[in-house]
Amino acid sequence: MGEGPTDTDGRGDGRARHVAIIMDGNGRWAKKRAMPRSVGHQRGVEAVRRLVRGLGPMGLDCLTLYAFSSENWKRSEDEVDDLMNLMRKFIKSDLPDFVANDVKLKIIGDWQGLAPDIVAMLEDALAQTADGSKTLAVALNYGGQDEIARAAAKAAAAGEITASAIEAQLDTNDLPPLDLLIRTSGEIRLSNFLLWQAAYAEMLFIDTLWPDFKPEHLAQALNDFARRERRYGGR
Ligand code: FPP
Repeated sequence: MGEGPTDTDGRGDGRARHVAIIMDGNGRWAKKRAMPRSVGHQRGVEAVRRLVRGLGPMGLDCLTLYAFSSENWKRSEDEVDDLMNLMRKFIKSDLPDFVANDVKLKIIGDWQGLAPDIVAMLEDALAQTADGSKTLAVALNYGGQDEIARAAAKAAAAGEITASAIEAQLDTNDLPPLDLLIRTSGEIRLSNFLLWQAAYAEMLFIDTLWPDFKPEHLAQALNDFARRERRYGGR
């Protein structure tokens, strides 16, 4: 066995432990209905909520969601404000749900640079959910290249620039290896998400627009995943 992840979960049943999702298509969902993009994002939050509530029976240890990329700042000021306000509302309204569903919140990315009230809300949410057994990791102000650069700088400062030393400094260093990366809306690219972690992950690109995504879509993806054979470069 070489470097990198070994079995998907050490349980030998081939089940995914860590799934990440690029939630794409909110704008197109709204456009198809002649609605403002903000409505698409609102419906996108509802899709997130459905998924978090349905997480228990899926047997996942970790779900990582790409909520706001470091490139999303280029969107109009109104849209950025909408997304930040949705984040505020979501944390406020769903925090009790996280606790009730045994979900531990984790944030990846350069999130300390967000508005101070959001940082404070997130810190409170992290503290309140610290004992959860399943992780919901939310990528905020996240860029994969930036994450790798930050991790490499820390590894260099500690005097060791190897793959494992860099990996140990990634934002995801306490999460299980990424098993499956899903992108909705039919686009086939990574958009700077989990670039390092995707090295051995399976990929699934589906046409469904994010607001239409249901827990059943994830359940189906997990079933398909369990049937795939992963070789990590070996035979
Ligand atoms: C992509 O749709 C989606 C985003 C840029 C943000 C994803 C955010 C949410 C689902 C809501 C906030 C999340 C949380 C956890 C509160 P798009 O606007 O790029 O869609 P388009 O490509 O069709 O225009």
